[in-house]
Amino acid sequence: MPRLGVNIDHVATVRQARRTIEPDPAWAAMLAELGGADVITLHLREDRRHIQDRDLRVLRQTVQVKLNLEMAAADEVTAIALDVHPQQATLVPERREEVTTEGGLDVIAHHDRVRSCVQQLQKAGIEVSLFIDPDVRQIEAARAMGADAVELHTGRYADAPTTDDQDREFNQLTDASRFAVEEGLVLHLGHGLTYRNVSRVATIPGVCELNIGHSIVARAIMVGFEQAVREMKRLIE
Ligand code: PXP
Repeated sequence: MPRLGVNIDHVATVRQARRTIEPDPAWAAMLAELGGADVITLHLREDRRHIQDRDLRVLRQTVQVKLNLEMAAADEVTAIALDVHPQQATLVPERREEVTTEGGLDVIAHHDRVRSCVQQLQKAGIEVSLFIDPDVRQIEAARAMGADAVELHTGRYADAPTTDDQDREFNQLTDASRFAVEEGLVLHLGHGLTYRNVSRVATIPGVCELNIGHSIVARAIMVGFEQAVREMKRLIE
């Protein structure tokens, strides 16, 4: 059964809406663990729009399960990652004007920068996952630069407007997943997953981790964090 990674960024989004001290993402992480989260994921963005440096440091000290830091392949955040030392780093593309991470990281176009970042993190004992589109060439490039894992972008599957489109995207995701596993990469999937569309991706052979944020936080506002995570976990199981 895949691990559930709960992304808590949007707890910090609510706090930052008022630049206040609550809600603290550390509270959400604790409740997520009680609800069965296997991984706590957070994205320290360059513009610090939600997660702040302090959050990362507090979570590093308090989270008992695996901590997964999403980050750009950039010097500033790499230095922070090397200092704070999360168990896992997921390299993602980052553009200031985007609402969320829009596409996968192009590890071919940004080969040298990404590889340098992968090597620095791995040398420090941090496992590195690359968030890429479900594309054979990207997977090959990720493997060639020695990534431990890839997180294949599930956004096109999640956003497919019709069942036919969804079937097509699902098949593409399944083929890319099989290829990644054959290449010896640990397989993660994420982005846009919800209570309605998660069960199908959880059946993809070889998937080790699902990273889910917005949908869980949205439900948590209504039913509480622990319960929201527990319901997601049940669907994955
Ligand atoms: N995986 C990665 C690499 C992401 O950047 C995000 C969004 O922060 C997610 C998963 C979670 O996406 P969502 O919030 O749509 O569940």
